[in-house]
Amino acid sequence: SAALPKGYKLRALRRADYDSGFLDCLRVLTTVGDISRDEFEAQYERMFKQEGYYIVVVEDDEGAVVATGALIVERKFIHNLGAVGHIEDIAVSKSQQGKKLGLRLIQALDFIAEHIGCYKSILDCSDANEGFYIKCGFRRAGLQMAHYY
Ligand code: ACO
Repeated sequence: SAALPKGYKLRALRRADYDSGFLDCLRVLTTVGDISRDEFEAQYERMFKQEGYYIVVVEDDEGAVVATGALIVERKFIHNLGAVGHIEDIAVSKSQQGKKLGLRLIQALDFIAEHIGCYKSILDCSDANEGFYIKCGFRRAGLQMAHYY
């Protein structure tokens, strides 16, 4: 598996990451909104008091969060009480794209999913990102539908 650039680290998201550029990193993906520290910490608590939320970040050699991705584990009755990994919210800061950070994130999330016993991991992406996920070992399967509220 690809190495991270020198001094970079891959680790779990922390409550203290309000200050590390995590939310700015997510802004390459979509609208984040104005989130206060209290709101961030409350959401963090809500996520991590339940099982099955794994949010990883890559920090650069100065400790700034420059990439992030999430795995949410869905428990099922089918497939013998199986579990499915949902890969969500993959984002690499603009200036850090093309350094294999995205690949490293997906490898880390895949590793967690497999070790937890997920029988597959799935994700939704745009046509423009298909090539990236193919390089990460995914293949096109099915069709996404959405109902926005
Ligand atoms: N199309 C085709 N190939 C690609 C693309 C792409 N859009 N992006 C990267 N690749 C290739 C790279 O060239 C590299 O190939 P190589 O091994 O032959 O050199 C390989 O995929 C790995 O690329 P990385 O360097 O790991 O890619 P990067 O770190 O830039 O991350 C990502 C890719 C996550 C798409 C990043 O560009 C990004 O954050 N984009 C904006 C936000 C976004 O679209 N996120 C994904 C949303 S989908 C979801 O979250 C489930």
